[in-house]
Amino acid sequence: MEEKNVYTLEDLRDWKTATAGLEKPIRLAVFGDPVEHSASPLMHNAALEQMGQAYRYARVHVKPDELEEAIKLAGENDFLGVNLTLPHKNSALRLVGEVDDQARKLGAINTVLFEHGESIGFNTDGPGFVRAIRSEFYVDVKDLRVLVLGAGGAGRAIAVQCALERCAGLILANRTLEKAERLAQEVAPYFESERLEGPGDRLQVVPWTNDRIAAVLGSVDLVVNATSVGLRRSDPPVLPAAILLPHLMVYDTIYVQRLTRLCMAAQEAGARWANGFSMLLWQGVLALEIWLDRDAPVEVMRQALKETLGV
Ligand code: ATR
Repeated sequence: MEEKNVYTLEDLRDWKTATAGLEKPIRLAVFGDPVEHSASPLMHNAALEQMGQAYRYARVHVKPDELEEAIKLAGENDFLGVNLTLPHKNSALRLVGEVDDQARKLGAINTVLFEHGESIGFNTDGPGFVRAIRSEFYVDVKDLRVLVLGAGGAGRAIAVQCALERCAGLILANRTLEKAERLAQEVAPYFESERLEGPGDRLQVVPWTNDRIAAVLGSVDLVVNATSVGLRRSDPPVLPAAILLPHLMVYDTIYVQRLTRLCMAAQEAGARWANGFSMLLWQGVLALEIWLDRDAPVEVMRQALKETLGV
């Protein structure tokens, strides 16, 4: 029998029949809705092959109201673990037996490990961001003054991770100001220091206008686009080249093209830039390391992901 491109909850309910005759059993998967475009299987299967592991990673289409049962069935069907993608990252927190401390702080799970009949939730998106910044720019987030654009799911994960790293400074900007303000309140405890300065010195919120953002860019090292602006090729760059400065590192979490509109603007301004490819890669590397408890073959995964995404 051929491996399916996408499995379903129905398949998980009778996994033996759904996967009968496969050369290698499926013991890892990504659950999402939608999931058919996930690039994770190719990246992970290339790594599993290279590591000599006799099992595979597949896609499973799991709707929100199916997630609880799907996680339970994966454990019963001898899965090593699963990745969770949209829209499951938050709701899964209460569906696993244990939650890793960092994942709890981030308020989201993207990786589940099944061990001794238990399910344990982890988050490799935040740590994946830190590894991506190190691999792209050879710097540590903790040493940087970071401007995060966007306070949705992605922006929240990145901002909280920056706070957990105790980064040198964090500025939040979001089209809907109140969302950035709420996020700032949430991370404020990480920026309180024993010195006389209040959190305000290292944590700021700026309104969503080019003028107000331009006014802080001189005191920022890293700009991160965590909005969805740039997902469509017709989108303008989230910030125009005219306000970007040559000393900046610009990281666009979007990876639909190699040179996203924001990366193009950064290049025009003489700034260093990178797209979200590396974050996708590192969250996968870290997930595989949690499941297998050994180093993952990063270069093999990078190559497979490159070929899959065509970037
Ligand atoms: P994700 O999980 O990718 O972060 P999301 O939670 O829907 O997705 O968040 C999308 C982010 O992109 C939000 O920060 C959103 O701003 P609002 O909170 O004001 O909605 C931002 N965004 C979407 N379209 C935008 C636009 N045209 N201009 C500026 N920001 C935009």
